Amino acid sequence: MQRRNFIQQSSLTVIGLGVFGPLLSNNKKAGTVLSVNSKRIESRIFELAKFGVDEKGRNYRVAYTKGDIEGRAWFMDLMKKAGLDPTIDAAGNIIGKRKGKNPSLKPIGFGSHIDMVPEGGNYDGTLGSISALEIIEVLNENNIVTEHPLEVIIFGNEEGGTIGSKAMVGEITNDGLKQKSQSGLTMAEGIKAIGGNPDNIQSCIRKKGDFHAWVELHIEQGGILEREKIQIGVVEGIVGIVHWEVTVEGFANHAGATPMNMRQDALLAASKFIIAVNEVVNSVKGTQVGTVGKIAVQPGAYNVIPGKVILGLEIRDLSAQKIEMLFREIEKRAAAISADTKTKISFERQPNESKPALTDKKLQQTINASAKALGFTTKFMQSGAGHDSQHIASIAPAAMIFIPSIDGISHSPKEFSTATDMANGANLLLQTILKLDKE
Ligand code: GLV
Ligand code: MN
Ligand code: MN
Repeated sequence: MQRRNFIQQSSLTVIGLGVFGPLLSNNKKAGTVLSVNSKRIESRIFELAKFGVDEKGRNYRVAYTKGDIEGRAWFMDLMKKAGLDPTIDAAGNIIGKRKGKNPSLKPIGFGSHIDMVPEGGNYDGTLGSISALEIIEVLNENNIVTEHPLEVIIFGNEEGGTIGSKAMVGEITNDGLKQKSQSGLTMAEGIKAIGGNPDNIQSCIRKKGDFHAWVELHIEQGGILEREKIQIGVVEGIVGIVHWEVTVEGFANHAGATPMNMRQDALLAASKFIIAVNEVVNSVKGTQVGTVGKIAVQPGAYNVIPGKVILGLEIRDLSAQKIEMLFREIEKRAAAISADTKTKISFERQPNESKPALTDKKLQQTINASAKALGFTTKFMQSGAGHDSQHIASIAPAAMIFIPSIDGISHSPKEFSTATDMANGANLLLQTILKLDKE
């Protein structure tokens, strides 16, 4: 079949069925279609979802917990069966390698993460991880050996500050390792719990030029693709993320005997602060976001005026300068609230922040062209979520492929993507890797 005919036919096929990739020239007989197994991807998403469901029935595969450890073991077992011979690096990242024909070439890396936020969803990270494995299996089943070595990477603790990928690019500090993770363990303890070695964390560092390219498939986590009825998002940039622990100190006193004008109510000040964050972030044009997503009140009783409140503040944007500018405004508002409520408000910037990153322009074009060849509609877009790819972008040409998230819901058990959209993304990842392999 001539190339032009094949592209047209493949596009029509894709529009009709949604999941088939184009014909493959490499090692494949003309006329056969190389495509991922949509059912296998979906059934593995459901299988992995069983790991980390806690006694209350909540999705709790939080990094370094029992569910994470069991889910990782299950994943590594599948990697072994696929011939990937997985190892765990010093940061707890799972790494599976597949030899290429030309060992002098640098590997093409792809993968994602399988840990989740507390009460998280079953697609965030798992889609890219399971699809990476799927690609290895499709290549195995079709006896295809790429020129470049391939490397599947499942990063450790993505949700708690992209710890594994930060470590891989040498951006973990001692303070970062001492930070408490959501599991209750410090990052260092957690890394040990998943088989890493925090005392020798530098041994996992990869340098510029160590990868030919890096590609991560992920759910969009927002509602743009679904609303615009677009099948594929080509990610142009990934936001920076900074966290602050905010402590509001008032005075705990009798809630009945203390008149309203004699109180130093830390929770009242914290409430004004939360509103101020929202106002500051909304006061300038752009796509920046700011959230207070954590709150702890002390002592926490009906009849005691709150004496202390600890808040978690997060700001995200594609511009690091804008994040700083917004924070300075928030600090000013906090000073005014503090004076008004006779409380003290202090900020502790948290380690493990993420810098904004742009993806590689040429890789974006490769993904877009591969998507078009598969007949998919595409949109160039930003990622408002953080990803391991933003760190890998500092050492390799890196890019991301998004597929629609139904109703734009993520970091929630209601997170969902269709089997067709997942297979579209995985087929695109497969074709992108094969295209990159020919470079
Ligand atoms: C990770 O999913 C994040 O954006 O926080
Ligand atoms: Mn993710
Ligand atoms: Mn996430």
